[in-house]
Amino acid sequence: MSQEKSSNIVWQEGQVTPLERQKLLNQSPSTIWLTGLSGAGKTTLAFLLERQLLAKGCACYVLDGDNVRHGLSRDLGFSDLDRKENIRRIAEVARLMNDAGLIVITAFISPLRSDREMAQSIIGGAYSEIFVSTAIEVCESRDPKGLYQKARQGLVKDFTGVSAPYEMPTNPSLTLDTAIRTKEDCVNEIMQFLLQS
Ligand code: ADX
Repeated sequence: MSQEKSSNIVWQEGQVTPLERQKLLNQSPSTIWLTGLSGAGKTTLAFLLERQLLAKGCACYVLDGDNVRHGLSRDLGFSDLDRKENIRRIAEVARLMNDAGLIVITAFISPLRSDREMAQSIIGGAYSEIFVSTAIEVCESRDPKGLYQKARQGLVKDFTGVSAPYEMPTNPSLTLDTAIRTKEDCVNEIMQFLLQS
């Protein structure tokens, strides 16, 4: 895919500053980027975090892998190139939502370090990476969508952790293992992190 298809375009400056939007919403926008294997608990943590932030009066929104792949990324599969494009789109959407003043929580496997670095460079300082580190044995025993079983049978190709790689984050802001901690405990730690940052 060509990187630059648009030409003859000029950035248009609005009249409302990011600071004005922050004052209106009374919060600092950020993107909490959850990465980890399928079945690690990213979506569960993301939606629980959204609920708790909302209860505290924060305007936030979850971008979730399965959901985004029903719409914005419905034309993409799971090759390295398609995953990269998926992550690029999500990062651009998160950036726009941050610009609008929202707290964004993303739940994507985002298995490659280089793709997460791209997301960070698009989103900038608002990006914080959280590794949902639940081991593959646990994810596979949960197998909520039956996809690990299908992947082992060769019915789903390029499945992360089985027939496609997952590169662990080297320097995440937090590491949370949902096999040894409750989801409430994990979300509390993210809330603390958000308060401090
Ligand atoms: S990512 O790699 O591009 O970040 P994303 O988070 O959007 O992946 O989608 C992952 C979800 O798609 C998984 O939770 C799973 O339900 C489903 N899925 C279907 N095929 C695959 C596959 N080959 N590898 C990983 N997940 C898959």
